[in-house]
Amino acid sequence: MKQQKKSCSPDGAGWIYSETIKDHFFHPRNILLDETGYKADGVGTVGSPECGDVMIAWIKVDKKTERIKECKWRTFGCASAIASASMMSVMATEKGGMDLKTAQTLKPQQIVERLGGLPDRKFHCSVLGHEALREAVEDYLNKNGK
Ligand code: FES
Repeated sequence: MKQQKKSCSPDGAGWIYSETIKDHFFHPRNILLDETGYKADGVGTVGSPECGDVMIAWIKVDKKTERIKECKWRTFGCASAIASASMMSVMATEKGGMDLKTAQTLKPQQIVERLGGLPDRKFHCSVLGHEALREAVEDYLNKNGK
């Protein structure tokens, strides 16, 4: 029988997931399972060339402050993508909402840091959330002639 590498064993040995990742995976924040009737100001959809998974982000923007007041998302990605998107949505809306410039320049490393790290081979999953957010902001700016 072919020996499996320890890091890929079916019981997950070798994969280190922080308690924060597990919390956001099992209790995802701001997930939107059905967007019917949800009126977003901006929508972003991205796919990962690494694994083919898809992430959609919807934002609502406070027109006076130009800050994100709501950030919803849905992904067909893995547990790390779910946890990353959940954390991204928290970061985008906490402390009165992220300003659009900051949202456009949010780095996946910042999301991973807040998650307490991700296994190296899962880093690309964290990219999906911040790219979808950036697309949603650009969509909002385009729709509003900015
Ligand atoms: S999103 Fe595809 S492996 Fe994580």
